[in-house]
Amino acid sequence: MKIDTSLTMPQLPEALAQAGLQFAVATEEDFDEIMSMSQDIYGGLDYLPTRYSSWLQDTNRTVILARKQGKVIALESVCVIDDGETMLVEGLRVAPQERGKGVAGVLLRFCSELVKSKYPEVKVSRLTRDDQMGPKDFQKYRLITKQGILLVRFRAEDLKLRLSEFSLSRDIYSSLSSNHSPVRLDDSSITQLYLTTDLMQGVLPNSTIIQDWQPFKLLASNIAILLKKDIDWMVDDVSSPSVASLCTFPFRVPIGDNWYYLNIDIFGKDLNLAQQQFFCHLQRHTATLKGHVMCQIFLDPPLWKPMAEFCHNVLNVELVKEYTEQCVVESDVV
Ligand SMILES: CC(C)(COP(=O)(O)OP(=O)(O)OC[C@H]1O[C@@H](n2cnc3c(N)ncnc32)[C@H](O)[C@@H]1OP(=O)(O)O)[C@@H](O)C(=O)NCCC(=O)NCCS
Repeated sequence: MKIDTSLTMPQLPEALAQAGLQFAVATEEDFDEIMSMSQDIYGGLDYLPTRYSSWLQDTNRTVILARKQGKVIALESVCVIDDGETMLVEGLRVAPQERGKGVAGVLLRFCSELVKSKYPEVKVSRLTRDDQMGPKDFQKYRLITKQGILLVRFRAEDLKLRLSEFSLSRDIYSSLSSNHSPVRLDDSSITQLYLTTDLMQGVLPNSTIIQDWQPFKLLASNIAILLKKDIDWMVDDVSSPSVASLCTFPFRVPIGDNWYYLNIDIFGKDLNLAQQQFFCHLQRHTATLKGHVMCQIFLDPPLWKPMAEFCHNVLNVELVKEYTEQCVVESDVV
């Protein structure tokens, strides 16, 4: 599915052709130039430095650069998912000095033309935004679902200590425990639960698995993509799930030396079960970690406040931001 690097560029609409930009598929050699225009992106939580090489290897992804007078000024990645029906846009960024001039729009349209010419079966374009979308955006996009974003930070060693105190403190631990402990799923139970039953449809927002900003429909081809990643999948009860979660393994982010990022997507509406799974993911992923962690938890919006209180009052971790949300949106590819 990879678009080859000697790609034949699509016939561009006139407005695009006039923008004076050249487009190319990104290569390993472009890394430094891309990083130099990416400073401070996503508040220092940019995943691209860690993911760049694997993105280039990804068979269903193409990373496109826009150059102006030979210099890289913008990047976007497109992935074809959902059995070939959806183009997923990720990583969009424009060099600071070029922002506000419509470059992002030109690049988005270029990528759309490119994907249409290579994959005529693609019907929609999806992306996830965490900025304030206005009425103009909603004329362009349909909202698929939204999740609250809770961003906390802590030192792994401190949290590990705090979590071990819990295991000793019956009061707090029992308030977190129910009759069942969360279950970690292996590949075959993931496939079984997510694909052969309709149990997850009531748990997932709009039947969508959102993993680290990427929205996937419940399809075997998507589960195959997800199973290639290092993710912990958890559920409260395999035979009657109410809450499910996906947690990345910690990976480095450029906010500082020894800073890691942990991304936890939680689906479902039961606060206690959500807290339990959050707790288990933290226990597992801070066990051997040393350094600072930025942990981003995506969850049903009404759970944001009580989960934030739990983080602050019980886990003693620092809240980095007030409520924000991620919106999964789509538009038709015409
Ligand atoms: C967000 C960013 C890419 C916008 O670039 P820009 O060239 O200044 O964009 P403009 O303000 O000229 O807007 C042009 C188009 O991009 C779209 N756009 C703006 N922000 C967007 C976003 N976060 N995701 C997708 N499209 C976006 C606008 O809707 C507009 O579309 P239109 O031309 O079809 O109307 C740029 O500010 C940037 O690099 N920010 C830092 C990284 C970042 O936050 N990326 C967003 C990922 S969620």
